[in-house]
Amino acid sequence: MINHRQLFLQHVAQTSQSPLALHIVRADGCFLYDDKGKEYIDLIAGISVCNLGHNNFAINEAIRKQIEHYSHIMVYGELIESPQTLFASLLAAHLPPNLNCTYFVNSGTEAIEGAMKLAKRTTARNEIVALTNAYHGSTQGSLSLMSNEYFSSAFRPLIPGIKFIDPSAPDFAVLNENTACIILELVKAEEGCKPLTQDFVNHIVRICREKNIILVVDECQTGLGRTGKRFAFEHYDIVPDILVLGKALGGGMPLGAFITSKATMDNLTHNPVLGHITTFGGHPVCCAAGMAAFSQLTEQKLYDSVEEKEILFRELLKHPKIKSVAGKGLLLSIELESEKVCLNTIRKCIEKGLFTDWFLFAPNCLRVAPPLTISHQLIERSCEILLNALND
Ligand SMILES: Cc1ncc(COP(=O)(O)O)c(C=O)c1O
Repeated sequence: MINHRQLFLQHVAQTSQSPLALHIVRADGCFLYDDKGKEYIDLIAGISVCNLGHNNFAINEAIRKQIEHYSHIMVYGELIESPQTLFASLLAAHLPPNLNCTYFVNSGTEAIEGAMKLAKRTTARNEIVALTNAYHGSTQGSLSLMSNEYFSSAFRPLIPGIKFIDPSAPDFAVLNENTACIILELVKAEEGCKPLTQDFVNHIVRICREKNIILVVDECQTGLGRTGKRFAFEHYDIVPDILVLGKALGGGMPLGAFITSKATMDNLTHNPVLGHITTFGGHPVCCAAGMAAFSQLTEQKLYDSVEEKEILFRELLKHPKIKSVAGKGLLLSIELESEKVCLNTIRKCIEKGLFTDWFLFAPNCLRVAPPLTISHQLIERSCEILLNALND
């Protein structure tokens, strides 16, 4: 009889030639369980998605309740749908006054596409600046923001007018009167969790203000508590003009958003009308789940314990094979000697019941981004497994 693994390999699109192909049948809290009943500690939370852990009661309840009312009724932005309206209002209550209007979409990459379009439409300028080795998504607009030719060259031509700044050797001259926006990832996650320096960010903000360039901050990975505050921009004491969210925003359901001022967002209503449209964006079930997640995050201030958890990880992650630990909060990266050592360590960790991964632009680094709810005891157990895997 054909098993699930064979069906997966034959009929589900593959994105690499060697998928992990674990068959996970259940997830609860910080644990995943495979079809043989084996337990894995989840050290990556679905790539910074499941910030509240798996099988969260309040999120599940919100989903169940919303489905009983309605799931899809009309394309985004036409009807008053309470899950969208209430969630957008709640987000506004937690954000600075200029971030008071949310456009909900389906994913992080669509939120980036929306932000890029809105910046062009608002400024009537056509250049966009991104950082080297940042990742903003895989559709053609977001992919254009990827400096790494290995991932983008096969898909050219992409969109024109994209320029890059390397934060370690910045040439700020690319920011000029043709620049619609600059897009920052405050901790460049896929480069191995490299936080931008305060000086660099201050410099960028100053130029944006001088030259009327829109400051877009992509918080798909850093947002919603992961770095120890609700949003990473709070660490830098800056306020974006457009904030991009995704990943954990939907509490495990697919949801992204770009958030700006009402006046700026209104530019999508005319010249042309329907400046960005989406059938499923802001799906009511996803918004209900996202609101339940965000309410728990903020009411229980789950981000408050993130810093002490980071410190514990850093204390325990000491080993001759660990070259460095980078990142902020529970968005950490363990630098190993090489890609080979990293892949072997990941394989051994999985064998020993610890689920982890590498980074797109840092294949020699191991990802530590567990649910924010991880306990101290589980952090200790995770690190023990990891160090054992390195010893093997
Ligand atoms: C910082 C950042 N922005 C955008 C995206 C794209 O999000 P999605 O995969 O939901 O399109 C990602 C995904 O990893 C990301 O890490």
